[in-house]
Parts: sequence; C-alpha cells; structure tokens
Amino acid sequence: MNDPNGMVFYANEYHLFYQYFPDGNKWGPMHWGHAVSKDMINWEHLPIALYPDDLGYIFSGSAVVDWKNTSGFGSAASPPLVAMYTYHDVVGEQAGRKDFQTQGIAYSTDRGRTWTKYAGNPVLPNRGVRDFRDPKVIRDEAHGQWLMVLAAQDRVQFFSSPDLKAWTYLSDFGASAPNHAGVWECPEIFPLQVVETGDSVYVLNVSINPGGANGGSGTFYFTGTWDGKNFQPLREARFSPSDTVNWVDYGRDNYAGVTFSDAPAGRRVFMGWMSNWDYAQEVPTTTWRSAMTVPRELSLHATDFGTRLHQTPVAELHQLRGQRYALEQERLTDGVTVIDLQELSESGAVEIDLVLDLVDSDAEELYLTFSDAEGAHFYRTGYSRKPGTENAFFSDRRGTGNTAFNAKFAPEGLTVAPRWSNEGNLRIHALLDRTSAEVFFDQGDPVLTDVFFPEKPFTKLTIEVSGSIGEGMPAGFRLVEGTVWGLNK
Ligand code: FRU
Repeated sequence: MNDPNGMVFYANEYHLFYQYFPDGNKWGPMHWGHAVSKDMINWEHLPIALYPDDLGYIFSGSAVVDWKNTSGFGSAASPPLVAMYTYHDVVGEQAGRKDFQTQGIAYSTDRGRTWTKYAGNPVLPNRGVRDFRDPKVIRDEAHGQWLMVLAAQDRVQFFSSPDLKAWTYLSDFGASAPNHAGVWECPEIFPLQVVETGDSVYVLNVSINPGGANGGSGTFYFTGTWDGKNFQPLREARFSPSDTVNWVDYGRDNYAGVTFSDAPAGRRVFMGWMSNWDYAQEVPTTTWRSAMTVPRELSLHATDFGTRLHQTPVAELHQLRGQRYALEQERLTDGVTVIDLQELSESGAVEIDLVLDLVDSDAEELYLTFSDAEGAHFYRTGYSRKPGTENAFFSDRRGTGNTAFNAKFAPEGLTVAPRWSNEGNLRIHALLDRTSAEVFFDQGDPVLTDVFFPEKPFTKLTIEVSGSIGEGMPAGFRLVEGTVWGLNK
C-alpha cells in the first residue's frame, strides 16, 4: 500500500481508501483498498473498492458526499459518494506518450460498499503534462462550485465543476513558488480558521518527491486566500531566508497525507502514508508493507513565525491508554531514568508526554531512548541546544537495528526539526509503536515521524540528559509534567 485516498466521513463512518496492490508486496497495478471506522482508531477492512480497467491503473484521488445530488448519481434523499481519481494508462506510458494520466470518477449509493465507474470517463483528459494526477475535491460553497486541485508536474492546477462530471480549468499555482527539487504530488486545499484571530485562511498542502525536509518524500504547505479562481499566498514576514518552506513533518515518513472530507463538527483530520519512496519497497517486512500515520487534528495559528499548522493526535486515541506511569522527579538529571515499558504495555506501544521548563534548566540535551532489553538497539528522540543543533528537536534511527536494507534509510546525521520559539515550556509528546515514532513537539509544530525495524521489541525507555550551559553540575531539565501510558491494542 501507499497513499491514503478518498478520505471521507459519511453515515457515521470514516472511509479510508488507499493505494493498494493486492498481488504482491512491491508497488504494482494500483487499486483502491478500503477500510472503515467509527472512530478513526479501530478499522475494519472492506473489499477492494476500485480495480484497474481499460483506462488504466487507479492512482490517488479523493471522495466527497454529493449532498445535493449535483451529479445525478443518487438522490437528494440518498446522496451518492463520488470518488475522483487518476487513471494511469501504462500502455500509453510505455508507448512514450505524454498524456497517459487522466482523471476519472466513480460513485456509490450504498455507503461505499460497491462502486460504479462513470460511463463518461475520463472526465478530465490530460492537458499535455506527463505528471497530471491526484485530484482532491472539496465543496467550495462560497463560490457555488466543486473545486478540485491536482498536481501538474511542478505546480498545482485548480478546476471547478457544477456536477463533478464537467470540469473547467481555473488557474495554476506554484511554478514560481519555492520547492522544486522533485515532482509535486497529492495536493489538497481547505479553509481553516486561525485560532487567535478567527480569520479564515486556506491551507494548500503539497507532497514532493524527492526534496522532502530530511530527504526523499515530504509534505509542505502554503497558507493563503482563495477567491473562487486563484490561490494567493499570504504575504508574511519570514523567519529567515532558508525558512521559505513550511513542512508538515520533518520526519522521513509522512507522505501524500490529506484530510477527511465532511468530518463532523468541522474538524480537519489528517493522515499520511508512513513511508518514503526512497526505500518504501525495500523495508524489511513480510506480511505487510507500511502503514498510515495516526489521525491528526489540524489547527491554524497566528505565530511570530507566520500562520502555522499545528497537529495533535486525535482525542479518540485516548481510548487506547492503559497503564499509566507518572514521572515524579522535579529535575531530570543524567541519573538516567529507566522505565520498563513491558510493565505498561503488552502491545509494545506507548505514549509519552513530557513538559519541561527551559528557563529553569541548564542542561544542553535531553534524550528519550527506546531500546531493547539489552540496550543493543535503540531509537532516540529529544531536544538539543548544543552549539550546532541550537534549539532543535531530533529523531535518530541509526541505532535501531535493521537499517542496512537501503543506504538512504539511515544515513549519517540526525533528522532534525527547528524549535520555533525560544520561550515557554517545551513539550515532547511521542507515540511509539513497534515500528514507528510519531513525535509532536510543543503545540504540535514541528512534528517528526519516522519508522524503524528493530530485531527485538523496544521495551525500555531511558531518559538521559547531557551537557551544561550553566555553572552547576549535574545539569538538568526542570520537569513540569511527565506521563507515560501503555497503549492497548
Ligand atoms: C504518491 C504517488 C501519487 C500517485 C500514487 C501512485 O505517492 O506517486 O502521485 O497517484 O503514488 O501509487
């Protein structure tokens, strides 16, 4: 599997479709796999929703509830689900043509259980670019239209439709915006209210491969306005010249992520594919091949560093919390705090939430080390204000064990993310599963998501502190709050 597709909420169910090749564990002719959930945590697999056909493989795309039955595929009383996806015509590709990616639609009138492809496909022919894919549709009610954004090589293109069948080109964005080290894929646009000001701002997410924050695949975003035809980025003062790209995630493993359409109560919930095209096909797994990130609630904030997206693991995840361990120390010094995670969790998954007061702290670095019982292999995340990694968070999987399957998996150097502010408490909120770490810093910005493949389960958490910026030894961090939960399956 790879990208999440067609994420939509309808009739009390979250639908997650995804890029899927059922006949092997490497990428192949793409289908849409399908799963449903009532809470985004417990998922039930359903049969494959879309199979390749004469027009091609079924690449990434989206789904909406057509509430007013504008498409005519259902009725107003029983609105259809309409999916829009890319057809990838391998025959055309192999013949050296440029126009082998087109867009098609399919609909369901039985809560997504069965799908019918529209007889008039493709609804949007190729417009002369090789990479022309991944349509994401939203209802643009303010302008009385369906709005679709898709990736066209080094930019996105916007289209509108009255009925999801006839599409009109509106505009382009991005050819002269930053970040062109790779091809643009899986874009998405949606409005979100800035918490501090109440302003409605549009977020435009774009995935890029290669060219990600720390190598390979990555996802970044623009904030801006939408007038029904054009996307205009906000003109904001920048932190530094190198800071021209807003990354959704600084980790190596969060790609092609998008949000649910029609999530209740206006929530914007994001999930990404937890892998990277640099090595996705070679990860040392057998019966499975990668997973999605946990669902993350997005919010927009007015900060000193511009309008920024924050991510919080959805509250529904709290249902998994089991055994709780409270850290009692007021100061974390390098006495090394060891917590036996086996006592907290049978599943091997844990959640850790630490709040530190930096003003009252004189150590340089804090490491959270998750290791096997012998400490032979480990994953590490933490905070550093050592010269060189000044005020930065990091994620380090170089010691996790099985790393040699691809040279790009664990190259030299740490995976780092900036700490935006120099002030206030510092928070490290990590979700550790058997083969993944999703670490949310401060208010959920930045985020580091990385996968790893231990030979033996990581059952030990060690908290270490090093270096000093003060006079006194031993140096430490003042702990405001620290909790570890075992997570139940
Ligand atoms: C992103 C992507 C999409 C494409 C799909 C094919 O990971 O390359 O652009 O639609 O995967 O599986």
